[in-house]
Amino acid sequence: MRIAIGCDHIVTDTKIAVADFLKSKGHEVLDVGTYDFTRTHYPIYGKKIGEAVVKKEVDLGVCLCGTGVGITNAVNKVPGVRGALVRDMTIAIYAKEQLNANVIGFGARITGEFLICDVIEAFIQAEYQETDKNKQLIEKINQCESTNASQEKPEFFAKFLKKWEMGEYED
Ligand code: RB5
Repeated sequence: MRIAIGCDHIVTDTKIAVADFLKSKGHEVLDVGTYDFTRTHYPIYGKKIGEAVVKKEVDLGVCLCGTGVGITNAVNKVPGVRGALVRDMTIAIYAKEQLNANVIGFGARITGEFLICDVIEAFIQAEYQETDKNKQLIEKINQCESTNASQEKPEFFAKFLKKWEMGEYED
């Protein structure tokens, strides 16, 4: 698998260790930076990862910053990215199975290097479940990517709320 990985200066050492782990598993790794500990700005690397994913230069993006919040937020602003901030197997598997996430983010000051590696492996092994429900959810979320008239209407989520009322959602 081709994987883009990036981080800010706070967690470069963890990023390098995770990249080495992915290479040891046979993945092709595109490291978009940052490459040292000089203060920088995490949105730069979130954007680079997202663009590599959306342009299909890679199959998956992995982003890391101190908490994971900043860089995952930034990567999610790239249209076409479905990024998930994860810290355990359950969340990572959910992100792949239900929402077909194409980027996973970590707070590398929150989650340890070994757990990050294991969670990425679990994410890679999980398979997107292409059910009608999941397709509809992803499509609805995609519609929020750009401003359009339908979002202004109160009934934008009506179809989903109706299903909920009918007891169709199990979670
Ligand atoms: C440092 O810039 C720190 O704010 C960053 O790594 C991250 O924790 C933000 O979410």
